Amino acid sequence: MATPHIESKKEDIAKTVLMPGDPLRAKMIAETFLDNARCVNTVRNILAYTGTYKGKEVTVFASGMGNPSMGIYSYELMNEYGVEEIIRVGSCGAFLKDLGLYEVVIVDNSISVSNYLWELTKEADRLLPGNPELNLKLEEAAKRLNSKVNHGNVYCTDVFYNDVDIDSLVNDYGCVATEMETFALFSNARKLGKKASAILTVSDNLITKEETTSEERQNSFNKMIEIALESIL
Ligand code: HPA
Repeated sequence: MATPHIESKKEDIAKTVLMPGDPLRAKMIAETFLDNARCVNTVRNILAYTGTYKGKEVTVFASGMGNPSMGIYSYELMNEYGVEEIIRVGSCGAFLKDLGLYEVVIVDNSISVSNYLWELTKEADRLLPGNPELNLKLEEAAKRLNSKVNHGNVYCTDVFYNDVDIDSLVNDYGCVATEMETFALFSNARKLGKKASAILTVSDNLITKEETTSEERQNSFNKMIEIALESIL
């Protein structure tokens, strides 16, 4: 079996999937954290690996950047490959001065003006929650690992170089950060009756203008990955 975008066999994809944006981060996660990891997708260089973490089978599948790319891969994984839960493990730009580089955020709700949900379901919601059960497991895993985590809504944008009113997103909508993939992921989960959540690491701060290099971004997200992997056990 294959889809237009995924060459994997059905049995090569686990029921639980972690989705980083960057294909090389998927490779790094598999090589660093998984036992017996094998590469299960290379179509368009959207790398995916399946292996085990402390005995639990898990697939790490890159989403690419933005709602349309995340939308394609997470839809096919849930709809064609029988995936039951997806945790996005990505980066975000902080909207709060005190939310520093490398801090970790569990996403309560994804807020967006993207048309993704409307085109998929004809529902007009602009706020989609992360799955509460998965979020609780993420929180419990962080506690077990003694890792500090933050919670909040994120603004999910289709326009990286945008000009949004950050004050309003913070004060009126409870957004603590911005990223580009959760709204499509949570929309697909709602449509297909599956579970999805997101845990993010701050890669840049839009208030203080601090930012990490692309190399740092690729290598510095281990705390978030450990929390995500511990949460699925
Ligand atoms: N904007 C959108 N998405 C992001 C950002 C940002 O500043 N940082 C990381 N992902």
